[in-house]
Amino acid sequence: MCACGLVWCTCALLATLLASFGLIMVPGIEQAAARLVFTHLSGRSLSIAGNVITARHFTYCLGDYLGCVKDEAARDMVNLFMWETGIGEFVPFSPNQLMNGDGVLPLHFSHAAYREVAYDLLAGRPPDMMVFSNKTSLPAGVMPDFEPDILLNLDTGSEEHTNRRKLLADMLPALAKDRSSGDEHFRVPTGVEASAAVISGATMGGLKRKVFDTVGYNLFDWLFEVNVENELAELFEYDGILAPLVLGIPAMSFQGRRMAKIRMTAFDKVTHSRVGKAFMRAADDRGMDGQKRLSEMVWIAMFAGYGGTGNLAFETIKRILTDPAKYTALFRSDPEAFMLEAARLHPPVAGMNPMAYRKDTYHKLATGKTMKVEAGQIGVTFSSAANKDPQVFRDPYNFVPGRENAERLLSWNNEWGDFSRCDTVAGCPEAPRGCPGTFLSMRLVTATVDFFVGGIEGGLPLKQEL
Ligand code: HEM
Repeated sequence: MCACGLVWCTCALLATLLASFGLIMVPGIEQAAARLVFTHLSGRSLSIAGNVITARHFTYCLGDYLGCVKDEAARDMVNLFMWETGIGEFVPFSPNQLMNGDGVLPLHFSHAAYREVAYDLLAGRPPDMMVFSNKTSLPAGVMPDFEPDILLNLDTGSEEHTNRRKLLADMLPALAKDRSSGDEHFRVPTGVEASAAVISGATMGGLKRKVFDTVGYNLFDWLFEVNVENELAELFEYDGILAPLVLGIPAMSFQGRRMAKIRMTAFDKVTHSRVGKAFMRAADDRGMDGQKRLSEMVWIAMFAGYGGTGNLAFETIKRILTDPAKYTALFRSDPEAFMLEAARLHPPVAGMNPMAYRKDTYHKLATGKTMKVEAGQIGVTFSSAANKDPQVFRDPYNFVPGRENAERLLSWNNEWGDFSRCDTVAGCPEAPRGCPGTFLSMRLVTATVDFFVGGIEGGLPLKQEL
C-alpha cells in the first residue's frame, strides 16, 4: 500500500511537472512564468527555475540556439528588465558555470548598457573563463596548445592586450579594413555546388556543411595563405565539439584530444606558410613567443573566424530562403548594407567573453530588486538584445538594409561605424575592443552569401519548404 502510494505520488508529481512544462510552451504563459520567477526568486531557486525556462526555450526552438533560443531569451530580458534600465539578471544554462561559479549573473542587454562595458577603456576580464566554461575544468587540448591565456582573457587597455592586438593588426594583412581586389580571390572548394537543384534538395545540415566549407577554405587562404581543402571535414567536426563547450557543457577528455589533433594539423600548415613564418618572426622580435602567439591566432581563427563567419553566412542564407525573390533582390541592390542588417539581426556571437567587475556594484533592476555584484564577479553582455534596442533601431525586428543607424550594430563588440574609424584593427580609444576580424569576416560572409544567392536566383521561383 505504502509502495503503491509512493509510485502514485511520483507519477502525479511527474505528470504535474510535465503539464507545467507543456504549459510554458505557450509564449504568453512563459512570459508570465518568467516574470514570477525573476521577480520573486533569488539565489539557488532562481537559478533552478531560470534553467527550466531555458530548457523550455531549447524545446520550443527544437534546439536551434542561434536562430531561435537567443531571441527567446532576449525577449524575456526586455519584457522583464526594460530597455531603459538595460541591465537584468541572467541565469546561465551552463552546467560548468553552475558547478564552478555564480548561478545568477548581471546581464548588460540594452545598447547603452552593452556599450558601457565594450567601450570601457579599462574593462576587466576573468583570466579563468572560456566564455561559459571555466578553463580549469576543460580537458587538455581544448585551449591553445602552448598557453591557455587568450586575448579574450586580458583586460582591455592592459599592455599585454595592446601588444597582442598590434601584432595581429601588423602581421595579418587580411584583417585590414580595405584590401585591393587582387589580394583576395574567392574560391569554391571541390564538392561544393550552389545550383538551385542542390540548394533546394539539401537538408539544413547538408547546406550548413557546404556554407562552412566555403567559409573555412577561403578563411585560411585569405588569412594565412594556406590551403585546407583536405581538412574541411575536420574543421566542421572541430566546430561541432567546440560550440557546446562555449556554452559551458562539460567535455570529455577524448574530445579534447581530438580537438588538439585537428588543430595541430592546421597549425602545422600555418607555421610553414609565408604569413605564419613572418608572424612568428615579428612576435619574437617584439619579445613575445612567436609559436605561442601563432597558436593562439589559429585557435581564434577556428573559433570566431570559422564558427562566427560560418554561422552568420548560414543564418543569412536561411533567412533568404524564407522569401527568395524578396531577399535576393535586396541583396543584389546593396550587398554590404544587406549583410550589415543580417549581422544585426543574426549576431552569430552572443556578446563578449564574460567581463569581470573591478569594484562592488549595485544594479537597481526594473523588477524592484537590487542586485549586488562584488568586485571580481563576472557579468555578461548580449548583442542579440542590444542590436534590437528600439532606442537606437526603429522597428528593430524589421529587415531594413541601409536603415538609420545601420552602422551602430554591436555584433563585432564595438559599433561597426566607430571601429571603421580606427587606423588599424588593433583598435583606438573611440573603439577599444572591436573584433579584429570585423572586416575580414564581412568580406568573406558577403562573398559566400553572394555565391549561394547565385544558386538561389537560378531556381526562382523556388519551393519554400527549406
Ligand atoms: C561574423 C564573424 C565574427 C563575429 C560576429 C565576431 C565577434 C567577436 C566579438 C563579439 C568579439 C569580442 C570578444 C571579447 O572581447 O571578449 C570578438 C573578438 C575577437 N575576434 Fe571576432 N568575430 C567574428 C569573426 C572573427 C574573425 C574572422 C577573426 C579573425 C580571424 C576574429 C578574431 C577575433 C579576435 C582575435 C578576438 C579577440 C579580441 C580581443 O579580445 O581583444 N573574429 N569577435
